[in-house]
Amino acid sequence: MRIGMLTGGGDCPGLNAVIRAVVRKGILHHGDEFVGFMEGWRGVLDDVTMPLDLQTTSGILHRGGTILRSSRTNVKKISGGFDKCVEVITKHKLDCLIALGGDDTQSISLALVERGVKCIGVPKTIDNDLSGTDACFGFDTAMGIATEAVDRLHSTAEAHNRVIVCEVMGRDAGWIAITSGIAGGADVILVPEVPIDMDEVCRLLKARWDAGKKFAIVVAAEGAKLPEKDQIAVGDKLDSFGHVRLSGIGQMLAEEIEKRTGYETRSVNLGHTQRGGTPSAFDRMLATRYGIAAIDLAHAGNFGRLVVLKGTQITDIPLAEAIAATRTVGADLLHVMKGLQPKG
Ligand code: F6P
Repeated sequence: MRIGMLTGGGDCPGLNAVIRAVVRKGILHHGDEFVGFMEGWRGVLDDVTMPLDLQTTSGILHRGGTILRSSRTNVKKISGGFDKCVEVITKHKLDCLIALGGDDTQSISLALVERGVKCIGVPKTIDNDLSGTDACFGFDTAMGIATEAVDRLHSTAEAHNRVIVCEVMGRDAGWIAITSGIAGGADVILVPEVPIDMDEVCRLLKARWDAGKKFAIVVAAEGAKLPEKDQIAVGDKLDSFGHVRLSGIGQMLAEEIEKRTGYETRSVNLGHTQRGGTPSAFDRMLATRYGIAAIDLAHAGNFGRLVVLKGTQITDIPLAEAIAATRTVGADLLHVMKGLQPKG
């Protein structure tokens, strides 16, 4: 087969592991040929490619980022964009296109499937919020980085009798916040799924001070928000998929906490640190399993599908199902979080 591949949306650790697995199985077991499109859908629109073979995909398993680069190019926003994609895919005589990305990227794959292109999707996002799968690769690495940061913040917060608010990624789902907050022993965890109650935040902090601990850690997802208020963003510019750039809830909370409690408070925003660097062993494994599943689907002639993890098994679902809803943090983890906090 001749197979195209691209990585779209925000990068995350593990993309290279998927690319390597797809190419290795495709070449070693089927004699496939590959075309790598650069910078997500932009590479398809502009026909910018790189060769993908055993040599170009060697030595990349442990590397973060993506050898194919990435962008948030939205084909829907470009006049004649889908026709151009179909033209380029036809020119390269592709039998299949494998797109690694989150809901925005997969929404373009789905639109191409409706135009007869044989697409297969691989779920990627550190936010871990794609419905239909129990895990996206990249999330485990981000969770580990955020947990280490929360660990490190403890000693400096304690040394200065401070509250430190740690802002982590997570637009509409607070997976990184709740997992790093629980694993790192944060005193307050704020996720987009539950509006922030400032009285409750201050109650938890005061309870800690009253118990003799004169420092505390708050973990807040970038998408956490006060009731009836918008999420905190940098400017009002939207990206091509209509998202604002979230940032600033941590600093806003720090100011409000200091004002209400009198405790000296600082904030730190982990930002893209969470997306960079080497993938965890779990993410390399998951990414590799997804890659093998994707190339297997291609050879089974099973298109328009997304490879997913259900429990411990890799399987696949229709692309439409994957982008239907955001997978948010459930009641079970919120129950764990509350169980560790003093009762109101
Ligand atoms: O890919 C998801 C994500 O990391 C979000 O958590 C975050 O809001 C966004 O991407 C940041 O995007 P960008 O790198 O384009 O600023």
